[in-house]
Amino acid sequence: MTEANQDKALHPTIFVVFGITGDLAARKLLPALLGLFAKKLLPARWCVIGFSRRSLGREEFRELVRGRLNIRPGQFKEEDVKHFLDHVSYEQGKLDELSSYERLAGRIKEQDSRWGQCSNKLYHLSVPPALYEGILRNLASSGLSKPCADETGWTRVLIEKPFGNDIGHAEALDKLLGKLFKEEQIFRIDHYLAKETLQNILAFRFHNYLFEPIWNRRFVDKVHVKLFEQNGVLDRGDTYDAVGALKDVGQNHMLMMLSAVAMDEPNGYSAPSIRRERAKVLARLRQAPSRSAGKCNARGQYSGYKSEAGVMPDSGTETYFRLKAAISSSRWKGVPFYLESGKAMAESRTEIDVYFKNANGRMRGRNAGNNAVDNQNILTFKIQPNEGIKIKFFVKTPGEGFRVESKTLKFRYSDVPTDHWQNLPNDYERLIRDAFLGDQTLFASTDEIMASWRFITAVLRDWTKLPLVEYPRGAKEVG
Ligand code: BG6
Repeated sequence: MTEANQDKALHPTIFVVFGITGDLAARKLLPALLGLFAKKLLPARWCVIGFSRRSLGREEFRELVRGRLNIRPGQFKEEDVKHFLDHVSYEQGKLDELSSYERLAGRIKEQDSRWGQCSNKLYHLSVPPALYEGILRNLASSGLSKPCADETGWTRVLIEKPFGNDIGHAEALDKLLGKLFKEEQIFRIDHYLAKETLQNILAFRFHNYLFEPIWNRRFVDKVHVKLFEQNGVLDRGDTYDAVGALKDVGQNHMLMMLSAVAMDEPNGYSAPSIRRERAKVLARLRQAPSRSAGKCNARGQYSGYKSEAGVMPDSGTETYFRLKAAISSSRWKGVPFYLESGKAMAESRTEIDVYFKNANGRMRGRNAGNNAVDNQNILTFKIQPNEGIKIKFFVKTPGEGFRVESKTLKFRYSDVPTDHWQNLPNDYERLIRDAFLGDQTLFASTDEIMASWRFITAVLRDWTKLPLVEYPRGAKEVG
């Protein structure tokens, strides 16, 4: 593959990755960049400069990156991988040392003069959140945050979740970001926003008007947002132990899923209107009244967690939580929203179940099941795996008499031909591509982040009062 095969419409861009030797760059970022390269979705002129503390020679770095691309047999042509690696280089430096950034600025300038034009600069903070502030300040002090003198070439910053550690920290970080960058330069990543199935919730809700009249407290009984993973913390014990499930996936991915289901219809498919509606519903999120939440809320830790590498031997960090929330709006007043997530569970399953209220009940008693759930229509958005949508509904059992039984209507993404899928960008690829293009729809706005932290910070106040339940690895349910 040659450079000319890439997206000619995009201006030359230098992608700087702070913390390139870390876990996130390996798991998500580098494979996504290779995927975009292979799909010809990067600019015709581009390069990655990895920045990190470790001392690494050119070849050593190239091999390290190659080892981290997680390529499945047959996934990419060797020629493409080689060309990709030709675009990746390394700059050793200290994240807290201004002179390292000045050296980086020199490198970037050299690249610009080789290309004979001022390129765009995209800075990705692939480091723990405690290091964000130092990096942002040094980007500003070294002049790296500014576009070139002739105003060609933008600068943008990509920030990973968790954005802060609580509302106070998130506000301070946001204030600092606001001083150094304009909102249109800031791309706050929550990769769940870019999941095809999450976006499909908007298409499903706002293009099938048959659901809109019943999408409210009169007809919806409850909503259950689940994110279960079979894996434990793997090799992320040290970072995870400082965070826990509620902040790791609750404050971000799960609230983004909830907002997709609960938000009002945006005024068109534009980043500002969609982000505004997501933020509005998050701002109305409350804990359910303590009497009812008390019976539901739970924290758990899988057995063996304390012996995972990097985890404190006396750790009180939760790897599971269940939380009952409510939305104080006329649409949702009184409808419980359950958020539930766990690591080391029986299966990996992320989905949202919307339970509809039973019919008036005059015909009940002849239904297949006896308990309330057996009689309810349930609409499930399957985020992963087996992505799709299904609806549980009832039909008459064929034959004599009048009995009903439940059936399922399904749409499965796997029914779409695979060659179509192969050319679609995945969640991280899409985010990076959108950052190149400057489209912020799939990135969290400052209002969304603040609203979600306000809610989670309130939950955390009572959180430690909940006992930490130990559950076995592979549990189907907890508590
Ligand atoms: C990350 C969390 O943001 O999302 C991880 O830090 C979690 O703990 C992961 O495993 C889940 O993402 P995905 O895309 O694999 O469902």
